[in-house]
Amino acid sequence: MTTLTIRRPDDWHLHLRDGDVLEGVLPHTSRNFARAIIMPNLVPPVVTTAQAAAYRDRILKALPKGDDFTPLMTLYLTETTDPADVEAGFRDGLITAVKLYPAGATTNSQSGVRDLAKVHSVLEKMAEIGLPLCVHGEVTDPAIDIFDREAVFLETVLAPLRERLPGLRVVLEHVTTENGVDYVKAQDKNVGATITTHHLMINRNAILAGGIRPHYYCLPVAKREKHRLALRAAATSGDARFFLGTDSAPHIDPLKETACGCAGIFTSINTMACLAEVFEQENALDKLEAFASLNGPAFYGLPANEATLTLTRQDEPVVFPRKVAVGQDEVTVFDPMIPIHWNVGS
Ligand code: NCD
Ligand code: ZN
Repeated sequence: MTTLTIRRPDDWHLHLRDGDVLEGVLPHTSRNFARAIIMPNLVPPVVTTAQAAAYRDRILKALPKGDDFTPLMTLYLTETTDPADVEAGFRDGLITAVKLYPAGATTNSQSGVRDLAKVHSVLEKMAEIGLPLCVHGEVTDPAIDIFDREAVFLETVLAPLRERLPGLRVVLEHVTTENGVDYVKAQDKNVGATITTHHLMINRNAILAGGIRPHYYCLPVAKREKHRLALRAAATSGDARFFLGTDSAPHIDPLKETACGCAGIFTSINTMACLAEVFEQENALDKLEAFASLNGPAFYGLPANEATLTLTRQDEPVVFPRKVAVGQDEVTVFDPMIPIHWNVGS
């Protein structure tokens, strides 16, 4: 196969930031994706419907003319989130999901949730109205090894939450483990999971073997190879509970290449090309559309996109930019470490 045409994809987990970074990175998403779930972990975070409306306006202002792209806004759940504000945002069509960051789990999560009991009334309201909760599924207990934080979260946080509120729709975001895949498969239709492009392509060796490579560091951190293989099996299976959320998370190079670097991998430029390579390697090109363009909208109760995206295979590896300029700085682009033969366009 040398060309592959699929419905235009959506990105169900994306960080666009604000200001110069927003302007620099947004075109790389809006060129190929029709919609994206926009993460609210700005500084300060997007916690109210009014803040989400203002952020959406800034995104739309930064959108290149002619690009057809809809930002789907989320609210950052805090212990003082008002259920009435969440409901109003949902009823207005402004809010597509609410994001749970356990406090301290990742970039800009310090205003996140420490005690789930304190947000119970919000979660009850969300279950009642059918508003999904996107979950950063990692515990933050320093006693728990960072490579175990997702698996422990499933047992100690998500399972009890699901028992208390089985009607709440939950997306286990950027799942990185076989445990996560198995957990999702054992649930009913109220649970889905996003998978990133990079977690399909790298394991933890990319970060740590032969030198420490900050541009492969993200959260949840990439795990050992058996987990990457489980993610690839889930993504390429066609199972409707798994869909693409790139978690493209730009940080300027000085904040990555330092003694204590930020978590986040910037993939929006080459995500679709990398995914085509992965699905081809798995003999599953016929499942790429389900993963990138059909399963996500189905979970969120939205129509699939009518427009299409064509990917073309070439013999010579495609060359992607190594860095993208944002204001005075640069953001390094994800290097998949294997030749990529696919590119967007016909
Ligand atoms: C994200 C970021 O930089 O905002 N970082 C990351 O490593 N994925 C936050 C997140 O989704 O965990
Ligand atoms: Zn993220």
